[in-house]
Amino acid sequence: MDLAVILAGAGEGRRMGDLGPKVLIPVGGRPALERVLDSFLEVESVGEIVVVIPKALLKSAQKTVASRPNPRGIALHVVPGGDTRTDSVRLGLQALTSALPYVAVHDVARVNVSPELIERVLRAARESGAAIPAVPLRDSVKEVASGRVVRSVDRERLHAVQTPQIFSHDILARAHAAAAEERAAATDDAMLVERIGQEIAVVPGEPSNLKLTEPGDLALLEALIHASRGEG
Ligand code: CTP
Ligand code: MG
Repeated sequence: MDLAVILAGAGEGRRMGDLGPKVLIPVGGRPALERVLDSFLEVESVGEIVVVIPKALLKSAQKTVASRPNPRGIALHVVPGGDTRTDSVRLGLQALTSALPYVAVHDVARVNVSPELIERVLRAARESGAAIPAVPLRDSVKEVASGRVVRSVDRERLHAVQTPQIFSHDILARAHAAAAEERAAATDDAMLVERIGQEIAVVPGEPSNLKLTEPGDLALLEALIHASRGEG
């Protein structure tokens, strides 16, 4: 066991409209948080999990966490998040109680994360100290402003980045300390780790590891879950 996990789920889910915060939204009949927890609980290297969620959902998230099969007795905590994703991850980091050498940060909104992907990123993080999953872009890419093309961007080197992102505890803690000092916020942790000059390894992500962002993503995710796991 060498991996602690921070599940970032404290967003408001504004783009989901009436469906609200994503952690408790059922995807293929099971709440997002339940699906994500089960994938991480399956990974033998995991020794501790902190779930970061909106304050108002503390009780229901605690119930979900307590309901999951946890035969190895992994330490599980639920803590309230902050105003930005960066704040939420930092609060998750502060809530870790074990001294495990690696920390995975995962968006609960990526409900269809597989144990295989978690293990692939972890193997790369053990080698290099920092690793993220990414998939090459398929579409042509353009910079656009006011409804007009500014220029075309060479797609060759562009990748869409996913979570889980895994770092040595020391690297992630230093990156967040620097971000707090500079009041910097970022859409992922790799951005903060990059800022402290740390090299980050990139491993293949999974196209099925979609982020639940808008209501239309639900049907897509359910179809993917159904196709890959024969459920949902
Ligand atoms: N997140 C978080 N704390 C915040 C904001 C976001 O932990 N203050 C988490 C979300 O719960 C989500 C992940 O970061 O799992 C990625 O964020 P996003 O997809 O933007 O989710 P929301 O912020 O919830 O959605 P929206 O931006 O539409 O409100
Ligand atoms: Mg958001």
